[in-house]
Amino acid sequence: MSTTSPIRMTMGPAGLSNLLERVDDGLAQGLLPVEVFNDEAVFQAEMERIFARAWMFVAHESEIPNKGDYVLRRIGLDPVIVSRDDSGQIRVMSNFCRHRGAQVCQSDHGNTSHFRCPYHGWTFKNNGDWAGAPHAQEAYGGRLDAREWGLLRAPRVDTHQGFIFASLSEEGPGLKEFLGGAAWVLDAICGMHPGGMRVVGVPERTQVRADWKSGAENFAGDAYHIDTLHFGNEQADYVEGLRQNNDFANALVLDGGHGFLCHSFVEMLGPFGEYSVYPAEIKERFDFSGLDEVQRQMVKERPPSVGNIFPNLGFIRFPGTAEAGKPPAVYTSFRQWQPVAPGVMELWSWQFTWNFMSDEEARPGYTAGQYNFSSAGIFEQDDTVAWEGAPRVAQSVWNRKSGMQFNYQQGTGGRVKREPDSTWRGPGVLYRKAYGEFGQMGFYGQWLEMMRKKA
Ligand code: FES
Ligand code: FE
Repeated sequence: MSTTSPIRMTMGPAGLSNLLERVDDGLAQGLLPVEVFNDEAVFQAEMERIFARAWMFVAHESEIPNKGDYVLRRIGLDPVIVSRDDSGQIRVMSNFCRHRGAQVCQSDHGNTSHFRCPYHGWTFKNNGDWAGAPHAQEAYGGRLDAREWGLLRAPRVDTHQGFIFASLSEEGPGLKEFLGGAAWVLDAICGMHPGGMRVVGVPERTQVRADWKSGAENFAGDAYHIDTLHFGNEQADYVEGLRQNNDFANALVLDGGHGFLCHSFVEMLGPFGEYSVYPAEIKERFDFSGLDEVQRQMVKERPPSVGNIFPNLGFIRFPGTAEAGKPPAVYTSFRQWQPVAPGVMELWSWQFTWNFMSDEEARPGYTAGQYNFSSAGIFEQDDTVAWEGAPRVAQSVWNRKSGMQFNYQQGTGGRVKREPDSTWRGPGVLYRKAYGEFGQMGFYGQWLEMMRKKA
């Protein structure tokens, strides 16, 4: 059982720049000071310098297909309403009332033309404009400017493959530039049919006593843990082949801190393994006309299987058991490592399916996804328990005093030669086999770059 000390240690704002120097020195040697995983000053800076600046995933268009649809989401610690307004435009708005800050909308999702604050009744249109207040004439002489008192709106909102992203900063790279090679990978993941993908059901949320970065770095490129942490699933006859995982996992490292693993299912299983091991009746319905030649070859032979789009949008597509005695089904899940407090995150998990499939046809993939990666998922439970260690180390007086740093040295020091695949023609750098921790180092390199830019 894990315990958490009631006394919280923090280096304070003054210690932060010193820590960032140590991180810079450490990363050059494949080391990372433990304080980054649980400290108030680090957390505050992450909120200001990363979450209030980067392009943050908030929802998928399929969750709000109709005018008036909305979902409640978060950007960092800020609750936001993601709505499709009466003109069909997507809006990302603060869910704090402009009058006294009460939470305007309380339902996770729905359809409405207006949001009415429960406290004094100020009312806002579904595009965020102020629409009125009770007794407006007597209270304000009817003189409130509707535009001035509307809900705060995220200054930039954009979409890619139906994924809605928002940035709380008016400046910085546009979404396509921010995503870089990850946009190309996302196109390949969702473009195996021109109709694209949709969300099934509602996202599941679980609180985990782990830092958000542990989820991000794991999905950015940690194939190394699979045949140890998850081996119990092979011993229980649930999966096979975990021991070969490292040989068949390729690491795709992209600029901007994005990273993916691409499993060579064809090398592992032959033609049966083509296209992420989708069953034949689904394979034959795919239409790759929207993909370029490199994407086509990638999704056929070594498709993206796990990944992280910086900072906190994870992805996994794998075959898994859907029901005892039935053939495996392929699930696609996007997930988000949402910071809640230093050393605590909420894990959000969306299950996706192809638009060419009916809800009934989507069921086995959904079930397989829930069996494997959900709060009760057999792989997810392994991961989240392991991730709880880092924040506990970061709060240990003994470890802090000892200058404890974690080891990321697989790709450093020249002990083992790690050559990129020179035949790779897609974006970024591809390594055959996933040893090297290049995805994790890319993630922390981007984290450091953004943390060093003060607001
Ligand atoms: Fe919303 Fe007063 S706080 S109407
Ligand atoms: Fe795992």
